[in-house]
Amino acid sequence: MYVCLCKGVTDKTIRRAVHEEGISTMRELRQEYGVASQCGCCKSCAKEVLSDAVKERNKRFLEETLLPTDVCYT
Ligand code: FES
Repeated sequence: MYVCLCKGVTDKTIRRAVHEEGISTMRELRQEYGVASQCGCCKSCAKEVLSDAVKERNKRFLEETLLPTDVCYT
């Protein structure tokens, strides 16, 4: 779905930006994609999508790096 109509930015674009480009803040999102830089109507929705994507990224990171994947029973 479109999150920012003024800049044509979708939720998929935001999620990809978080997961692949490391974007974590509204400031970064605004600088890279222009989200909420014109009318501002998208700000709360963009924050919500960004927050969800960052939580998902952090959860994946923790699962991949901190939890043991193999157990040795010897
Ligand atoms: S809808 Fe995002 S700045 Fe207007």
